[in-house]
Amino acid sequence: MSDNRAIGIFDSGLGGLTVAKEIVKLLPEENIVYFGDTGRVPYGTRSHDTIKKYAAQDERFLLSKDVKIIVAACGTVSSVAGENEKSLPVPFVEVVSHSVRAAVKATKNKKIGVLATPATIKSGSHKRQILEIMPDAVVVENSANLLVPLVEAGWIDEKDSVVLETVRRYLEPMKEQGVDTLILGCTHFPVLAPVISKVLGEGVTLINMGASTAYAVKELLEKNDALNDGCKAPEKLFFVSDKTQTFKETAAVLLGEREELIIEQVDINRV
Ligand code: DGL
Repeated sequence: MSDNRAIGIFDSGLGGLTVAKEIVKLLPEENIVYFGDTGRVPYGTRSHDTIKKYAAQDERFLLSKDVKIIVAACGTVSSVAGENEKSLPVPFVEVVSHSVRAAVKATKNKKIGVLATPATIKSGSHKRQILEIMPDAVVVENSANLLVPLVEAGWIDEKDSVVLETVRRYLEPMKEQGVDTLILGCTHFPVLAPVISKVLGEGVTLINMGASTAYAVKELLEKNDALNDGCKAPEKLFFVSDKTQTFKETAAVLLGEREELIIEQVDINRV
């Protein structure tokens, strides 16, 4: 059996493309529908109620595109939403639990850092799940609200002193405590990995939520006999809620695509 409907992926903005990239790498035959809520990013500084409301609208949009699975490619939504997702008519995959398992597996000194948005840190999702699996772990968290706007604007160059200093400031607690593993708890952050490694040193393992989530998506589709049959060339559709000034360039960088992306704007309030 096969299912040729697309994998639906959403994020508050373009950060979720780092997850989409990993899914495409692992499942190249699959059709993809991506929605980035560029008109309302960031989610991470908003109240839990607002994040839940936005997530429900994003999911409704993806369902209107007849997707077979929904991936919340957003640490914030994955940490805060929950109830609504249980009643979705298609399977739902979040990004937190898979990255937690990868971090617990990777750490040697049981000191794990979590760098994420304020809403994610406030939810305590990573810390709670790490301690469930490894009760004697030391979890060092920090919320980094300036990093999402930097990435959305395409400011990711490790040679840029503003980027380097901002990242350095947020990583101070992790450096002080000597974490050997850091969860990039926001899907915008993998593109900052070179800067983060420069600050923390190559010895610290960085956990990219996209990579661990892509495996979870593959496993689920295999289990449900729902992989694409691969007979037709896969289609990738991108939607945003606002065509912001830098979205096209940033999207290409995050996705690692050379060809020009076709991105359509939608009114998310009307879905
Ligand atoms: N990319 C998102 C995350 O993983 C959200 C960033 C934001 O909107 O604040 O948390």
